[in-house]
Amino acid sequence: MSRYIRALSFKWLTPLYDPLLKWVMREETFKRRLIELANIQPHMKILDLGCGTGTLTLLLKQAHPTAKVTGMDGDSQVLDIARDKSRGTDIQWDEGLATSLPYPDSALERVITSLAIHHLVTDDKRQAFKEIFRVLKPRGELYILDFGAPHIPLTRFMATYMRRLEETADNFDGLIPRFIAEAGFGEVKEAQHFVTLFGPLSLWRTVKGD
Ligand SMILES: C[S@@+](CC[C@H](N)C(=O)[O-])C[C@H]1O[C@@H](n2cnc3c(N)ncnc32)[C@H](O)[C@@H]1O
Repeated sequence: MSRYIRALSFKWLTPLYDPLLKWVMREETFKRRLIELANIQPHMKILDLGCGTGTLTLLLKQAHPTAKVTGMDGDSQVLDIARDKSRGTDIQWDEGLATSLPYPDSALERVITSLAIHHLVTDDKRQAFKEIFRVLKPRGELYILDFGAPHIPLTRFMATYMRRLEETADNFDGLIPRFIAEAGFGEVKEAQHFVTLFGPLSLWRTVKGD
């Protein structure tokens, strides 16, 4: 059964999301890396799925001003914060669910998503990857930054605690690449791995074949 998990689980904690990510998780380090890797060309159509308060979406627009950037999230409260942060830009903010994306087939060149997939229950993760596959153009690319399988004893230890948080167990068990491949994508590469205070993060890259 589906379950909706907000940015910090509870509505009243949402205002603390940006300071927490900035100061405790050093979010800019990995968000900037994602943008560097995403091989974005002028005028591309790009979706930030589960964009939350829009920090990654804004960084992306600043790095690629001609790109047609959309941030989408299921929570209107975080979208209000994102809209406030992005005044003066032409970023499109949409309310929608990862399991039924409000976009036509083959509409986008890139889908990026950061720290959102671990909010979805297992069936919804699988369904979200099918939806991403549907909305990407052939040769379109998907970049996912989220908790991943630990590589070293320290992060294995962290994962034993963190797996109780939200729906992270699939991530720490190394199942995300399998779910992505099942949705029809080609090879799934872990392009980078980060160790954070909340556990190991993986940055995966994959392409929708022709
Ligand atoms: C931890 S926040 C990550 C926000 C942002 N991407 C970042 O990196 O800071 C997870 C976000 O996923 C959103 N989310 C959770 N379930 C969702 C769903 N089924 N569809 C769309 N968004 C969802 C939440 O509302 C929240 O804003």
